[in-house]
Amino acid sequence: MSANQPATPQYEAFYSLPAQKRAGRQPAARGAGTVKPRPDNVQLAFGYPFPGSFPIDDLTKATGEMLKAEGTSALQYGGGPGVTGLRDFLLERMAKRGMPAGPDNYLLTYGSAQGLELLARVLVDPGDLVITEAPTFFGGLRTFQMQLADVKGATVDKDGMNMDELEIILASAEAAGKKAKFVYVIPNFQNPTGTTMSLERRKRLLELADKYDFLIAEDDAYGELRFEGEDLPTLKSMDKSGRVVHFGTFSKIIAPGVRLGWVIGPAPLIATMTATRIDGGTAPFAASVVNQYCRSGDLDKRIAWLRKEYKQRRDAMLGALEENLPAGKGVSWSMPEGGFFVWLQLPTHVDSREIYAGAVANGVSFVDGPVCFPDGGGKNFVRLCFSFNDSEKLRQGIKRLAEVVAPKL
Ligand SMILES: Cc1ncc(COP(=O)(O)O)c(C=O)c1O
Repeated sequence: MSANQPATPQYEAFYSLPAQKRAGRQPAARGAGTVKPRPDNVQLAFGYPFPGSFPIDDLTKATGEMLKAEGTSALQYGGGPGVTGLRDFLLERMAKRGMPAGPDNYLLTYGSAQGLELLARVLVDPGDLVITEAPTFFGGLRTFQMQLADVKGATVDKDGMNMDELEIILASAEAAGKKAKFVYVIPNFQNPTGTTMSLERRKRLLELADKYDFLIAEDDAYGELRFEGEDLPTLKSMDKSGRVVHFGTFSKIIAPGVRLGWVIGPAPLIATMTATRIDGGTAPFAASVVNQYCRSGDLDKRIAWLRKEYKQRRDAMLGALEENLPAGKGVSWSMPEGGFFVWLQLPTHVDSREIYAGAVANGVSFVDGPVCFPDGGGKNFVRLCFSFNDSEKLRQGIKRLAEVVAPKL
């Protein structure tokens, strides 16, 4: 360094407490970043919709129509209630699903991810108890951890979160003079397990919320993507005491790139979440395009088509697992009735992080179990996403995965 060249700052010294905790952490899928995927990699890691699902022509048309009709407002800063047409469309849809709500109960966000962030921002002080399913969506988990929550997990089985375990955590917190701020659940086709919370457990969760005085964050990212079986009522639709905050998103039913989600919740909480934002309103342009698209097209018809497409993909993945990695010897997997994910259990001596590099070298990527657990457990689990690839690629991906796993069994 020359004498008069100024020193580079020590950036870590400037970091906030959450950023210090975050710095140096592994990326979501371990090994991602360190192992370069092959050009023909079969991506089973991230919950991306398949590219052919994006309604490009319809969105192009909607954009043109919208700009002609209301370009001036769509290109201006937003704020306030946001695009009221979209708000009314969503409130009507929510009411049809048993969640009547008024404008004061509604907030449009940059994806449901921002909704979760706003909730954590207004509810969580460092050290506050937040309870999630174990495993859970790693994005939600990281959001709460970034707010320095003390995140604890209650196990998920085929009927969703184990309510007895949840009550044990709540009771022991109470004995220590603590309360959970909120319990975060994904009741429909959970990310990452694909399981759906039973009606009985939904009722019990609401009872526990009253008994132990906590709020419930209901993340319904996949709720409309059911392939078979009967829809169950959302927690929000069963909520008599105003404890449930419901999160929805266009990411899985239109496209994640529009970055639009919504929150339905108690008016005071929505007002507080809104008051913490200084971002010029939620994407007035994207919201106006999506409003035009939803009003001129048939979203329900599109969702019906997506359900068929995703069912085929799920069936291809389950079939390939059956064929290449037969259940038994400690291997089993979930049977999701909707959503994007299958959760694969391997024998306890197999570590999903250790097989990751070999899998990527063999042309397949996945999300390892531990990133989905608040305590970093679950090393012998793998999240497999079936939404991105077609059936043929899915079969190829599972075959490649099985080639790596089979010698370890
Ligand atoms: C359960 C769950 N919640 C929220 C999100 C974030 O979605 P969005 O694109 O709406 O921010 C995802 C994305 O994968 C998810 O799986």
